[in-house]
Amino acid sequence: MAKETLTIIDNRTGKTYEIPIEQGTIRAMELRRIKVSEGDFGLMSYDPALMNTASCKSRITFIDGDRGILLYRGYPIEQLAEHSNYLEVAYLLIYGELPTRSQYEKWCHDITHHTIIHENIKKFMDGFRYDAHPMGMLLSTVGALSTFYPEAKDIFNPEVRELQIRRLIAKMPTIAAFSYRHAMGLPYVYPDNDLSYAGNFLNMMFKMTELKYKPNPAIERAIDILFILHADHEQNCSTNAMRSVGSSLPDPYSATAAAIAALYGPLHGGANEEVLRMLMEIGSKDRIPEYIKRVKAGEFRLMGFGHRVYKAYDPRAKIIKKIAHEVFEVTGKNPLLDIALELERIALEDDYFVKRRLYPNVDFYSGLIYQSMGLPPSMFTVLFAIARTAGWLAQWNEMLLDEERKIVRPRQIYIGPEKRDFIPLEQRS
Ligand code: CMC
Repeated sequence: MAKETLTIIDNRTGKTYEIPIEQGTIRAMELRRIKVSEGDFGLMSYDPALMNTASCKSRITFIDGDRGILLYRGYPIEQLAEHSNYLEVAYLLIYGELPTRSQYEKWCHDITHHTIIHENIKKFMDGFRYDAHPMGMLLSTVGALSTFYPEAKDIFNPEVRELQIRRLIAKMPTIAAFSYRHAMGLPYVYPDNDLSYAGNFLNMMFKMTELKYKPNPAIERAIDILFILHADHEQNCSTNAMRSVGSSLPDPYSATAAAIAALYGPLHGGANEEVLRMLMEIGSKDRIPEYIKRVKAGEFRLMGFGHRVYKAYDPRAKIIKKIAHEVFEVTGKNPLLDIALELERIALEDDYFVKRRLYPNVDFYSGLIYQSMGLPPSMFTVLFAIARTAGWLAQWNEMLLDEERKIVRPRQIYIGPEKRDFIPLEQRS
C-alpha cells in the first residue's frame, strides 16, 4: 500500500526528508526540519492570503467548491433552507446536532429573553452622526457591549460563554434595527417577544404607529431563509478574523466586532450593497455589454460574481434566486431584476467568466430582495452580520476548545532595508 508521506529532497544539501500526509495536508511546521545548517531557522511556506493553508481543523461547515456543495454539520444547505429555521440552524452550528423539542424551546426562549439592550447602549447609539453607516454603528456597538458585560472575559467558563452566545445572537437584530432607525431619524422600536426571530427583526425595523406589528409571513420566511443561508461559511475572511482575534483570548464581543469589521469590506459581505449600486449604475439592459467590456478590461469587478472556494454556481445563490420570485409576488417585481438576470446570462456565456469559473455568489441576488422589502443598501451587510453571528460564535467556541489552539501569529518574509544608522533631521537631504 502506498505510504501517506511526502518525500522532499533539499537540493541545497542533498538531504532527504519524509513528511507525513494527514487528510491531504502536510504540517507546515514539518518544513522547519529542513535546514541548510544547524543554525538555520528552517524552511517556511509562503502563502499570501492563505490561499492554500488550512488554519484549523473544523467540524462545522463543509464546502465542495467544485461541485457547489455546502453542508452545515453534515446537513445540506438546501434541506435546512426548506425545512428548518434560523434559530434551529444557529443551535445546530453551535452545538453540532439538531436540538430536541425541549432543547429547541429552551433555546428560543433564552434568545427571545435577551433581545433587549441596556438603555445606555441606546444612548450610546444616539451619539452617532445622523447619517452614520449602520455597519459602522453595528461594529462599534457590538464592541462596546464588552463594557456592559465585563464577566464575558471569563471565556473558559462554559456557563459564561453560553450566556454571551445567547446574548449576542439575541441582541444583534436589536442593535442592527436601532442603527437603521437612527439613520432614518425614527424612534427605536423595542423587541416584541411574541414574534419569531425574523418577525421581531422586521418589527424593530418597520413598526410605525400600529399597536402591534404583524410581519407579512412570506417576507418573514424569506428573511429567515436568508439568515440560514448566511449563517456560516467555514474559514472566510470574517470568520478568520473572529478566530484570529479570538486566539488572543479577548471577550467574544471584541472578537465579534473584529469579525464585523472584516465583513464590512466590499470583497466580502459589503458586496451585496455594491451589487445593488452596480445594477443601478448599469440602469438598463442595453448598457450591459458595455459594462462587461469594462470589467474585462480590468476597470472594476463584477460585484456578486466569483468566489475563492466556489468554482461552480454558489448553492446559496440558487436558493436566493428562487426566494426572490416569492418575495416579488408580495412586493412587486424589483425593476433591477431584469438587469441582473440579463447580466448573469451574458456573463455566464462570456469566455472571460467561463475560463475563470466565475459564477454568481450569495450576494448577487440578495440585495434585490432586501431592496424590495424596503431596506436601504447600507443595511444589506448588516443583515449578513446578524446571520453570520451564529457561525462566528460556533467557530470561536470550537477554536477555544481546540487542543492545538495557540495565538495566531503568522511569519513574514522581510524584504525591507538592511540595518542602517539613524540620520539626524538636519543631515537628511
Ligand atoms: N469580476 C471580474 N473578474 C473577476 C471577479 C469579478 N467579480 N472575480 C475574480 N475575477 C478574476 C480576477 O481578475 C482574476 O483574473 P486574472 O486571473 O486574469 O487576474 C481571476 O478572476 C481570479 O480572481 P482572484 O482575485 O484571484 O480570486 P480570489 O479568489 O482572490 O477572489 C473574490 C475572490 C470573491 C474576492 C473575487 O471573486 C471578487 O472580488 N468578487 C467580487 C466581490 C464579491 O462578489 N464578493 C462576495 C464574495 S461571496 C460572499 C462573501 O464572501 O461575503
